[in-house]
Amino acid sequence: MIYNLPMIKGIGYAIPSKIVTNADLTKIFDTSDEWIYSRTGIKERRLFASDSEAFELLGKTCKQALNNAEIKADDIDIIIAASSMPVQLMPNTSCMVQKLIETSRNIPAFDISVACSGLVYGLDIANSYIRSGLYKNILLVTMDNCSRYLDWTDRRTSILFGDGIGAMVISASDENDILSIDIKADGKVGDYISMPVQKGNCPFVDKAPTLQFLDMKGQDVYKFVANIIPSYITDDILNKNDIDVNDVDYLVLHQANQRIISTVQERLGYSDDKVITNIEKLGNTSASSILIALGEALKDGKIKTPSTAIICGFGAGMCWGGGVIRLRDGIFKDANIF
Ligand code: UT7
Repeated sequence: MIYNLPMIKGIGYAIPSKIVTNADLTKIFDTSDEWIYSRTGIKERRLFASDSEAFELLGKTCKQALNNAEIKADDIDIIIAASSMPVQLMPNTSCMVQKLIETSRNIPAFDISVACSGLVYGLDIANSYIRSGLYKNILLVTMDNCSRYLDWTDRRTSILFGDGIGAMVISASDENDILSIDIKADGKVGDYISMPVQKGNCPFVDKAPTLQFLDMKGQDVYKFVANIIPSYITDDILNKNDIDVNDVDYLVLHQANQRIISTVQERLGYSDDKVITNIEKLGNTSASSILIALGEALKDGKIKTPSTAIICGFGAGMCWGGGVIRLRDGIFKDANIF
């Protein structure tokens, strides 16, 4: 029998050690805990203290997901890493994962760059690979080292982001855990969130120096997301797939801003216990925010299994994507690997 439905078998996540509070930020520019918290819901964020910490946590996160999935590194057929703000550009994050999990096979490994939509885009690719029969076991990783790409003199952007890692194993099965999935983009409004590569190095071309820092038109992003995402979830994620909003157990939105999460919650008519958030302690961890929120909530018992969750990511591009996934018993049984 050939199975080609995607089962989500295990997940893992890691949060870095370095804590930066809103009070810490008041020491580097003119801001306040009150301003940041009331506008975003963020009190503190975590940063990778060093590259070595980032890679150590990356290896552990992936091993945690493999343990939870009860499969060996050698059973993984392909690694996909959603990593728009990687610790390093080369080797890419997925090849670093390949080395860290110590697989003996030369499986393909590649990164995708869709910022905060990374988990959903990665899941869409994994879904297609599994359904096509090309691969049986996929390791999907999310990792963004946002702190290295922020201008820490810019109080409009640096207050928002934190670093983090997530991992998920998706395997071919006779049971389907991806009940709905959709991805979208609108490059016409790409300048809402932008990041040039560092320039000024080559003597033969335009030498105007620029630094590799993230720039964001916060109000434009906010309006775009608040306008699009609530009806996107009801129309494209739920209705198109005949999923009743009341039949889904949890909402795990990209953790970009508490006010956006509350807007979507209101639209769906969900009570607080159905909405998973961790933005207060971690800020916006870009591609990893949904997986970290899922992992933490499973660990703390805020999410019970078996259950279902709406996931939805949005950010630079502008790209966005969402779906409904099944969370089965045991996907986060091993919380103690760290
Ligand atoms: O994951 C990617 C998706 N990203 C998002 O979803 C982000 C969406 N956007 C936002 O969350 C909000 O736009 C922010 C939280 C980033 C900013 O809030 P805002 O209400 O849009 O602020 P603003 O940029 O319009 O600035 C309002 C005022 C300005 O002062 P003036 O010009 O009106 O005098 C800013 O200079 O607030 C000032 N300001 C600050 N004041 C204290 C901006 N940043 C700060 C700050 N502390 N950190």
